Amino acid sequence: MFDVVVIGSGPGGYVAAIRCAQLGMKTALIEKYSTLGGTCLNVGCIPSKALLDSSEHFYNASHHFSAHGIEMKELKANFTQMIQRKNEVVTQTCAGVKFLMDKNKIQVFQGVGSFIDPNTIKITSKDGVQEIKAKNTIIATGSKPNYFPSMVPDKKRIITSTEALSLKEIPKKLIVIGGGVIGLELGSVYARLGSEVEVIENSSSLLNAMDVSIGKELTKILRKEGMKFHFELQVQTVENLGKRTIIKAKDKKGVELEFESDYCLVAVGRKAYTEGLGLNNVGLSTNERGQIEVNEQLQTSVSNIYAIGDVVRGMMLAHKAEEEGVFVAETIAGQKPHINYNLIPGVIYTWPEVASVGKTEEELNRLGVAFNAGVFPIKALGRARASMDTQGFIKVISDKKTDEVLGVHMISARAADLIMEAAVAMEYRASAEDIARICHPHPTYSEAMKEAALGATENRSLHI
Ligand code: FAD
Ligand code: NAI
Repeated sequence: MFDVVVIGSGPGGYVAAIRCAQLGMKTALIEKYSTLGGTCLNVGCIPSKALLDSSEHFYNASHHFSAHGIEMKELKANFTQMIQRKNEVVTQTCAGVKFLMDKNKIQVFQGVGSFIDPNTIKITSKDGVQEIKAKNTIIATGSKPNYFPSMVPDKKRIITSTEALSLKEIPKKLIVIGGGVIGLELGSVYARLGSEVEVIENSSSLLNAMDVSIGKELTKILRKEGMKFHFELQVQTVENLGKRTIIKAKDKKGVELEFESDYCLVAVGRKAYTEGLGLNNVGLSTNERGQIEVNEQLQTSVSNIYAIGDVVRGMMLAHKAEEEGVFVAETIAGQKPHINYNLIPGVIYTWPEVASVGKTEEELNRLGVAFNAGVFPIKALGRARASMDTQGFIKVISDKKTDEVLGVHMISARAADLIMEAAVAMEYRASAEDIARICHPHPTYSEAMKEAALGATENRSLHI
């Protein structure tokens, strides 16, 4: 009998397993695929960032190096090598998870995990079927790409993010349906490598859940990089005609438009994945969004079964899944952990990067909270001019009465790392003036954080 069996080895599942083992529990991990790491390591965060980094080097070499005084002749993208390097990064990272499982003495089972009853799980693999016993189970089965009947991926020309990370050629033209995180990251990869990239988005702007200023600025920047955006279009059909795809869409006046491309990436969100889990054998079901319902302890209606990560409500992010993995392990061990869901940073790895934590201006307006906002343009930084990454801004929003920082939104080189200063400050409930009075190293991008905080504090920015 295991104390805890975790189903799914993504960042939620494998981190939960490690924390359970650290807390002295006899732990097993079940993964249906032959490699560990889930979506994030195999077909998500890690491979997409590997290709984003490679394509950014290529873009810089072809567009910016000469301004730095570096002349290059006959630059060309070796896409096969790029994909090969990405595969190596994935292999090494997944092997790292296997190492961690062994180090923590977590028993790994390869196969599909499925409930027989609340304490018995069947594991089905090509080698046969076995059953294991569990006092507690953590479901961490993640998510899969979503799509609509008008845009069913055939995984050849009409593709999801998974295929887009392993193409054999750089598309001449790529139509992306969905201007969300995946559309913008993978659209950027191929735009930088020379594809003509057009994004069809059904709403009126990009990144609607973020501070409105971010979506506007990113649209401007990506347009300059050559990406095209079509807003407020409803896709009617997507067809694979062999070597090309035809996408038919209607604008809001009902006018029909037709797009043609060699590949069409469907990136309209992801849906919780519970297939094959045998939830009905333990009296569990999913809600209308396909998610497993949980209470504040991430416990399902069956008291010894928990669920975490993409398969439950909330942001579909690797670090959110990890936090929930630790939370459930500690809850099972009798501790009283806490997750501050308001302080889960969101990052988009375009260039410049986008990062955000806390409340947006729009949310605060809706809540009727009075605030100050300090905005500092990146181009005013000496460091930005030195490195030629001058686009974007940092916005610090603080409570008008107390000056407590309520939200920070940025689009800047290195924003993915800069955002943590905001998250730490907000976790300790710092005021904008607290951040402004901390000495920030010069010349760095972090000075924009201090300057934006100064801006929110009685409009006292020094360098604008
Ligand atoms: P998953 O990582 O989806 O893992 C679930 C695992 O469970 C899978 O391995 C699956 O095979 C296994 N499984 C399912 N059912 C069973 C079963 N019955 N038995 C056994 N095993 C089963 N997030 C970020 O925070 N940062 C990023 O930069 C980022 N980039 C992304 C890029 C792309 C292209 C995509 C698609 C996603 C990205 N994400 C990113 C989102 C991130 O990958 C997910 O939020 C994260 O992987 C969720 O973790 P999870 O543990 O809940 O599930
Ligand atoms: P998303 O929810 O970010 O974006 C989907 C976009 O598609 C939205 O802009 C939406 O308005 C649009 N859309 C929906 N239906 C449409 C339709 N019929 N026609 C045209 N547009 C339509 O989802 P995405 O990009 O697929 O990513 C899925 C998840 O993966 C996200 O929730 C994200 O959290 C996670 N992810 C995170 C990354 C990161 O943290 N850097 C990177 C990639 C993915």
